Amino acid sequence: MLHTDAWWRDAVIYQVYPRSFADSDGDGMGDLPGITGRLHHLKELGIDAVWLSPFYPSPQHDAGYDVADYRGVDPRFGELGDADKLIAEAHGLGLKVIVDLVPNHTSNEHEWFRAALAAGPGSPERERYIFRDAPANSWTSVFGGSAWEQTPDGQWYLHLFDVSQPDLNWDNPEVRAEFLDILRFWLDRGVDGFRVDVAHGMVKEAGLKDWTTTSTILGGLDPAGPPPPMWDQEGVHEIYQSWRRVLDEYEGGRILVAEAWVAPADRLARYVRPDEMHQAFNFPYLDAPWKPAELRAVIDESLRANDAVGATTTWVLSNHDVVRHASRLGFPAGTPRMPGIGAGDPQPDAALGLRRARAATLLMLGLPGSAYLYQGEELGLPEHTTMPDEFREDPAWERSGHAERGRDGCRVPLPWEADAPSYGFGPADASWLPQPATWAEYALDRQQGIPGSTWELYHSALGLRREHHLGSGSVTWQDGEFAFRNGDVLVLTNFGAEPVELPAGARLLLSSEPLDDDGRVPTDVTVWALV
Ligand code: GLC
Repeated sequence: MLHTDAWWRDAVIYQVYPRSFADSDGDGMGDLPGITGRLHHLKELGIDAVWLSPFYPSPQHDAGYDVADYRGVDPRFGELGDADKLIAEAHGLGLKVIVDLVPNHTSNEHEWFRAALAAGPGSPERERYIFRDAPANSWTSVFGGSAWEQTPDGQWYLHLFDVSQPDLNWDNPEVRAEFLDILRFWLDRGVDGFRVDVAHGMVKEAGLKDWTTTSTILGGLDPAGPPPPMWDQEGVHEIYQSWRRVLDEYEGGRILVAEAWVAPADRLARYVRPDEMHQAFNFPYLDAPWKPAELRAVIDESLRANDAVGATTTWVLSNHDVVRHASRLGFPAGTPRMPGIGAGDPQPDAALGLRRARAATLLMLGLPGSAYLYQGEELGLPEHTTMPDEFREDPAWERSGHAERGRDGCRVPLPWEADAPSYGFGPADASWLPQPATWAEYALDRQQGIPGSTWELYHSALGLRREHHLGSGSVTWQDGEFAFRNGDVLVLTNFGAEPVELPAGARLLLSSEPLDDDGRVPTDVTVWALV
């Protein structure tokens, strides 16, 4: 582990989804004091940093990714002083803190958008957004439906996401200046970095030419084709260069992480050139099927493309936008990722999903670079795949005309204590999304100290990863099985139907499931061994 300004190069970063992590006041909605009160659990788990999804004032039409004030804390989550306390407490524990920055769009309740509506067509206030007298094209919203919405005075505005998320006009210098100031606001409060939402979206191609392909969360870009006029435009890079200059004025290694749905790997690597961002989420890895050839290809391609620009490669299997990997992997290998799962949909094989999820995580944590974990995966949490539709809050559910169940199933509040109300999420029974009746078995207090539990697997893996410097190592593929060496550790995953032998003399360090009676590695199991 590096203890320098380059802490992030091999860091394991844990995503906290504030609505669903821990509720301190019993209103059913997680909050910042709840997070602060449970940070020591994350320290104990062995992570290096937390990334917090948005906690800013917001009408919550997109769970806080519709920001009404970039310099505050929503009363549901606490107040600004609670953010300061959280940062201080995390730093006291030796954990870094990354916050979410949403620059592509504001909430329609942001003072700028209110002012734009009040000031009317042709005003400088409207120039902060993308207003036209008529829809300029047939672009669609990522959540479904048209990307254009009419205002009462007849003009239309662009929203690539929900109608409550008007896109900002990044050609306007005032918008650029405002975000530089927002960066400083949080850097001055001590944050260690920003996860940049929709980092490939801010600049639109001049002329807003027509484009009929629909984009979906994390997807929709053709790696072989030209970038669509709303995504991955050349102009975004200059913005990140200007942000990087601001971050570099601060000490301690402050970072920018791109959430950019960009392919192929070489195009994504352009976001992490030395004068731009530090990291980009590796969604091709998240989307790779549970198949050895495909996984090996995406690992090699990711490392090659990032090495070429001197960046660290990241790995991720779950986040707040996708079906949890313990459920995704419970479908036949190669099943495309689905936009949510409901009671009427095909259901995953939960046992198979968890077995593969544990193997997938051990494989991921054996790779060099930086890994992102999503809260609850260390408990082996599955997606809530039978949530009654009346509870759904994701705007994609309504906007898609109920074609997509959406992302609520991966956002269910965490179980901490098996026998407490709301499984210890908060002091009361309340929970903004219903928790499945089967979740007691996943609670933290049913797993800590229990050999073989998923929490203990993560805990051991994070400890060994640090001890053997896997984050700063390299991948050397071995002949035969799906296996690579990283330093003195062999990482082997058995994707086949038959058990496989460990190489002669190998000493087992950790295994995602027990070896068989003959000491062989069973199907869908990853092992780490000293060689
Ligand atoms: C990102 C977020 C997602 C949000 C969208 C719009 O993809 O991860 O949750 O809905 O941006 O801000």
